[in-house]
Amino acid sequence: NRLLLLNGPNLNMLGKREPDVYGKITLKALEEQLTAYVEEKQWKLDVFQSNHEGELIDQIHASEGKYRGIIFNPGGYTHTSVALRDAISSVNVPVIEVHLSNVYRRESFRHQSLLAPVCRGQISGLGAKGYFLAARAFMEEDERKDD
Ligand code: DQA
Repeated sequence: NRLLLLNGPNLNMLGKREPDVYGKITLKALEEQLTAYVEEKQWKLDVFQSNHEGELIDQIHASEGKYRGIIFNPGGYTHTSVALRDAISSVNVPVIEVHLSNVYRRESFRHQSLLAPVCRGQISGLGAKGYFLAARAFMEEDERKDD
């Protein structure tokens, strides 16, 4: 049972970038902690970050048949990318969209997600905890399936 953690543009700067908005944890620490969290439950996590839209699309295409779910923070592409939305629609893998900040209390251009309508769900504003909650949702959903 495997999950994919996908982070989009500028999230490599986590910890250094606007810490008041995005928190102090680095991407490396987040990836390590989330890996440990899923391993406690005998799951596996692959991680990938890219600043390039096409590379994120390639990862989504390659996820088919490999993952029970994708935990995806698409960064600024959330609000602009028809191509990422189409990629999510083109595979059978559920995606949970995660935002560190509460995008609905920020600038109005962040209030629209082009991706959320094709995602399983969205978590916004809970900081790094959102990634853990998304992982937990996938892992628990899967337990129910096996009942
Ligand atoms: C973000 C919110 C986006 O609006 C922004 O462009 C980001 C980060 C978040 O995690 O809060 O890069 O996805």
